This record gives sequence, C-alpha cells and structure tokens, in this order.
Amino acid sequence: MMSKSIPTLEDLGDVAGKRVLVRTDFNVPMETAADGTRTITDDFRIRAALPTINWLTERGASVVCISHLGRPKGAVEPKYSMNPVAKRLSELAPGVELLENLRFNAGEEKNDPDFVAELIAGVDMYVDDAFGAAHRAHASIVGPPKTLPSAMGRLLQKEVEVLLTLRESPKHPFVAVLGGSKISDKLGVVEALLNVVDSLVIGGAMCFTFLAAQGYSIGDSLFEPDQVETCKRLLSLGKAIHLPEDIIGLDADGKYATYGRRLPPGAKGFDIGPGSAAAFTDIIMESRTVFWNGPMGMFEDERFAGGTRTVAQAMADTKAFTVVGGGDSAAALAQFGFDDQVDHVSTGGGASLELLELGDLPGLAALREAPNAR
Ligand code: 3PG
Repeated sequence: MMSKSIPTLEDLGDVAGKRVLVRTDFNVPMETAADGTRTITDDFRIRAALPTINWLTERGASVVCISHLGRPKGAVEPKYSMNPVAKRLSELAPGVELLENLRFNAGEEKNDPDFVAELIAGVDMYVDDAFGAAHRAHASIVGPPKTLPSAMGRLLQKEVEVLLTLRESPKHPFVAVLGGSKISDKLGVVEALLNVVDSLVIGGAMCFTFLAAQGYSIGDSLFEPDQVETCKRLLSLGKAIHLPEDIIGLDADGKYATYGRRLPPGAKGFDIGPGSAAAFTDIIMESRTVFWNGPMGMFEDERFAGGTRTVAQAMADTKAFTVVGGGDSAAALAQFGFDDQVDHVSTGGGASLELLELGDLPGLAALREAPNAR
C-alpha cells in the first residue's frame, strides 16, 4: 500500500472561525540576568513560525501555539516559563495565544493520552510546524493528528523538502562538512551520508577521534576512545574523508600554538588550522551541494573561531546549494553575519540529522495518519 502523503495547510479546507492548535518549536536560546530576568538571545525559531501563523490568522482562524522550552522534567520550573517567548510572540503576531511550557506536564514526554485530550479540548484542527521537535514521539506531536484534521505548517514543509532532497536527489558533487565534539552523536548520520555524498569533511573535536584512528598523536585533545574502531571502519570504506592537516590549540603550558596533524603530549586542539580551513574552502567552492553541521572549533573563543568563520564564509561565497543544520553551526553562521547568505538554515539540530539518516520522523509519520490525509 502506498503511504499517504502529509497534508499541507491547504488540505485543512476553510479555517475561518476555527480554533487551530499549532505545535511550534519555540525552544529558543535565553540568557539570565543577575536578577533572574530571562531574555531571548535569538528569536529565529519564533520568526520562522510566522508564515504558518499568519496564513491561519489571515484566513480568520484563532491560533493557539504550544511548545516546549528547555528540558524541565514534568513539573513547573519557573526558569523554563514561556513568558519571555509569549511577550516576543505578542509583538510579532498580536492576538495569538501561547500556552505554558508543554514539558511542565509529565504527560508530554510520556505521550499520555490524557494529556493529549487536555491539549485538544475545544480545538478544531491541528498544525505541526515544530520541525526541531519532529523527532520526538511526544504527546503534542503524535497525539493530536490521531483525531483532528491536521497539516504540516510552512516551516515543517520547507525543512522536509530541503532535507529529503539532500538525501534523495542532491546535485553532485555533494560534500557534508561535519564538526562538533562527538562522533558518537552523529555516527548514524555519518554512515547514512556516506551513501549519498561524494566527500565528507571532518572538523571540530570529533576530528581527533579520526586522527587517533589514523595513528596520529593527539596530545590531550578531546576524543572518544570507544569510537576509534568505528572511525577506522569508516575510513576504510574507500570514501573521500577529509581531515584537518593542521590544528590550533594550547600547548602543555597553556600557550596558543599551531601544529600539523601530530600534537605533542599535553597539547590540546581547539580549532582547525588555516591550511585546513583553506583546503575545506576549496572543497566547498568546488561542490554543487553542501550540508554543514557542527562548528570546526571552539568558536565562542575568538582565538579558536578562525576555522568556523572560514567555513561560514565559504558557505556564503559558494555557488553550491547550501544547507546548514541547526544548533551550533546555525548560531555560528549568525554570529559571523552570514545567516542570510546560505540557501537554507534548518531550525532543527537533532531533527535534521535524524531526517537525513532515516528519511522519516515520528512527527511526519503521525501527520500521514491524520483523518484528512490522503
Ligand atoms: C532542539 O532544540 O533541538 C529541539 O527544540 C528539541 O529539543 P530537545 O532535544 O530537548 O527535545
């Protein structure tokens, strides 16, 4: 049997006068002042939901947004209150309601049917626009489409289109640039990407596990000893995997230092060096599709920001179709001012990797089973 397709906003029919529950991902970064006041440091995820919210309100629907924020464990924790988000949302989309943090209720993560019933009481339709949370089989994501006419919002639709195109029909050459600290977090996606990419570029702390697997000394750099065998296996598959040829870090006395691929005892690597950044730039410039996830180094510290900045610049300069996975690489892109110079910045970190790896997500599967899906 052919699987049903995911309904879009148009498949909801007439929304005028309807109460529509919109699952958003307003899990935005916040900073806390000395007096405990919490301020949003990046409202990208709130702005990203506006096309869907506006589409509904312009057609006469009344919109109730729901989201999680942080990881409270099923009880009210004031520091995770949605109040700062509600304030920003009221500026961007006046009149739109936002309920309190879904994860204040233990039923959310447990996918408790009683909590689903509470959420959908008095609601006519459900829209999922929370791409960043679509890999979670939580109550607010998989529950409402079981009974309510449902649709994916514009943001979810765009994310799925872009990421599945990368997975299924990318223009070649296709390079994936991966960074961040843990190879174990990204193993599944690395394996899946190796089936579709022409080459893989590895930076960030995860490069040390690969360099260790190749027999290089890595000093005291962060690495995952239990992943060395996995890295050896990936390196032996015969695919082009590019590792840094130089490293910037601190020596055993804590002094700034530049190394080749071998780090002396006590040294710690914190960024790829300029030679690697230039080599990675060449690869990005010669590609037709580039997916980037994970910073090349500890870019929050200006001394170790060079590699990530150079990759961000190459993403902005290349003619390739460029996609940036959410989380830290999206933050880096914004910090360096290139966020409007790539083709797509995903709002999902874990979700974008899981969609690339598996080709589907619990949130999408749930929408395919909605009563109005065809
Ligand atoms: C994210 O920030 O990646 C999403 O909002 C999901 O959050 P979670 O990892 O706490 O489920």
